Amino acid sequence: MPDSGYTSVSLDAFWVPYTSNRLFKRDPRIIVGADGCHYITADGRRVYDALSGLWCCGFGHNRPEIAAAVSRQLETLDYSPAFQFAHPQAFELAERVAGLLPNPLDRVFFTNSGSESVETALKIAKAYWRLRGRPEKSLLVGRVRGYHGANFGGTSVGGIETNRTPFGDLAVAEHLPTTLLPENAFSRGLPPKGIELADELESIVERHGANRIAAVIVEPMSGSGGVVVPPAGYLKRLRELCTAHDILLIFDEVITGFGRTGKPFGIDTFGAVPDLLCIAKALTNGTVPMGAVIADRAIYQAFLDSNLPDYVPELTHGYTYSGHPVACAAALAAIDIFERDGIADRAAELAPVFEDALHALRGTKHITDIRNCGLAGALQIDPLPDEPLRRPFEIGIKCWQRGVYVRWAGDTIQLGPPLVSRPADLEDACNILLDVISTVE
Ligand SMILES: Cc1ncc(COP(=O)(O)O)c(C=O)c1O
Repeated sequence: MPDSGYTSVSLDAFWVPYTSNRLFKRDPRIIVGADGCHYITADGRRVYDALSGLWCCGFGHNRPEIAAAVSRQLETLDYSPAFQFAHPQAFELAERVAGLLPNPLDRVFFTNSGSESVETALKIAKAYWRLRGRPEKSLLVGRVRGYHGANFGGTSVGGIETNRTPFGDLAVAEHLPTTLLPENAFSRGLPPKGIELADELESIVERHGANRIAAVIVEPMSGSGGVVVPPAGYLKRLRELCTAHDILLIFDEVITGFGRTGKPFGIDTFGAVPDLLCIAKALTNGTVPMGAVIADRAIYQAFLDSNLPDYVPELTHGYTYSGHPVACAAALAAIDIFERDGIADRAAELAPVFEDALHALRGTKHITDIRNCGLAGALQIDPLPDEPLRRPFEIGIKCWQRGVYVRWAGDTIQLGPPLVSRPADLEDACNILLDVISTVE
């Protein structure tokens, strides 16, 4: 029984994030290895990774090309200062990332996570309007049920109440309504109703004035909020409104980037292009922490055109590990895989299999909605009256025990399988879900 020595260490010191530590320390779920689309547990079981880690390892685990690139990089240049100096791989990676996106999204600012990408995009948006002589344009607009990471700005524009309330006052932000509508329940792919929800931006504009709003941030399709797929036409409408009111549009593609929706990016699937785009997770296939914000060239140019002496940085923002050489090596190898193996096309081919398997669960008790897009899917679970989080938790734990890792969050069960899964993996996972949900009270 492989346990990689974990039974010999105390579990006390490690404060496990986004986790009930009370329960976890009593009954830990320890992963000691991975192989393709599966995890290996400390008690020697193979568990299908139906969430690609945390939506990040979509190209499968332990890719030797990435391991070799990281190892080579560690032996050549393990670190180089991120401010005032740079190394070649950062330029190469920025070119490769920009090459995946439509013009004029082609200026790349590196971060270390999705949360940092969001903070960076929000700060760029606010600084941009100040540079343009419009400092009053500073209000940020998020969306109910949106998730933009765990940092302060991202939590403020985020719209998941349980992530916000423990922290009291956050940064001032407005929120668009969620696009989750009961009349769209059990839609396959993009739900037909709800394009008019984008017009709620007009109400926010009426209340505050467009001259006070810096940016709107949304996930093209939110994953952590429970796979909320945008209604047909919604994102294009939001784009039109932002353009009409001179408000920057930020897409948080931390989950939707790199093939998850069946095309390279959400912008390809949903047909709207933002001014700033956040990525992370699959940029390195989850191997080394890294994120990025890709800015419209005109935004970058506005910073370069500022009236500062040449020796003063145009944007006083960045991280010690921005564009870390090892992360760049991992990302370059991951993008090679993404392109060479046609990962987005593979996701598109698997998507109908996944959709059919998931929607076959319709009619199972407790399931009040099923949503999917590409290789992302969620089951909405009828909450117990006084314990709304209990059923998803019990379903998730039982799935884990039965050999399938899914995410339980809020009132949903979420799936984001590896984009290199076999059709049978997807069908087996849904069959296990069916068995498990049928036994939960
Ligand atoms: C849309 C979105 N933005 C941001 C984040 C935060 O990313 P990270 O956990 O890498 O900071 C996530 C994480 O799930 C996400 O789904």
